[in-house]
Amino acid sequence: MNKFVILLFSTLLFGCSSQKNKNEILNIYSKRHYQVDKDLFKKFEEENNIKVNVVKASSDELIERIKTEGENCPADLLITVDAGKLYKAANEELLEKINVKDINSNIKNELLDKNGFWMPITYRARVIAYNPLKVNIQDLSTYENLTNENWKNRVLVRSSTNAYNQALLSSLVAHHGQEVASQWCNNLVSNFARKPKGNDRDQVRAIVANVGDIAIVNSYYIGLLKSSTDSLDRKIGESVNVFFPNQAENERGAHVNISGLGLLKNAPNKNNAIKFMKFITSDYAQEYYTNNSFEYPVNKNVKPSNIIAEWGDFKIDNLDLNELGIQRKKAVEIFENSKWN
Ligand code: FE2
Repeated sequence: MNKFVILLFSTLLFGCSSQKNKNEILNIYSKRHYQVDKDLFKKFEEENNIKVNVVKASSDELIERIKTEGENCPADLLITVDAGKLYKAANEELLEKINVKDINSNIKNELLDKNGFWMPITYRARVIAYNPLKVNIQDLSTYENLTNENWKNRVLVRSSTNAYNQALLSSLVAHHGQEVASQWCNNLVSNFARKPKGNDRDQVRAIVANVGDIAIVNSYYIGLLKSSTDSLDRKIGESVNVFFPNQAENERGAHVNISGLGLLKNAPNKNNAIKFMKFITSDYAQEYYTNNSFEYPVNKNVKPSNIIAEWGDFKIDNLDLNELGIQRKKAVEIFENSKWN
């Protein structure tokens, strides 16, 4: 899309809605695609009398668009499901620093950006879902251990083009270096139950269909399956157990990533963006998230929903989440040279 078309499109999209309500608007570019976001945007609109306009696309597409639009970019906030993409936006000098402590002092410290360019909205762990009828929990331990030949033809995971897998591999590059991470990747591929296909939920469905015995998936998808309106999905969610890897005393903890936001440098509605940041990290919004999308709340006053709380507390890998962006190029390179399609 050339610059002119993008500008025209933005004017049409944002222009119309701002004419409806000449007072206040907030423009969000978001990678998130969940109903819970729509509900919370609506609640924010009602409480603050600020019209929220949302453009949804992949994080890379949104970042490209922000760059192309430059000073004319109408967006105030960029929302992603991966700290790595927020690091990328900061690195491209698209973001303005946020003093998160001024906005919400209740956010868990370990989830904050040390450089101050983004703030977390929720967090999620990349866990191992397993078939309790076929897997002895004693055999599960670490991400590294998934390459053990005990798991031959038993591991399910989605494509390597997916950001969740790229973030996990980035964390392994950060901890062990590129060479060890590359070996891990190749050895894991040789344990795959099938060629990667489908999304995270499909990997869990494949456990129940006996295609494989363990799956690497984001924690909230199990919550979504368990609370689904589809009775088969509910049954699937109930049929698997969740294991948090790398929990032993000498281990670093389970890999987590945040869904978060960045304030754009050229944000035309900065005050409204700050109001939104306060709202989205408030007790109300954080409770709404965890009870409906089953992500973990970043606000330390808010308890995780019952469905995810029953898996118990777990130790999180305290790696600087910017590493998920810093090591991304190496991780993608490893994937491209592997048989993980
Ligand atoms: Fe997701």
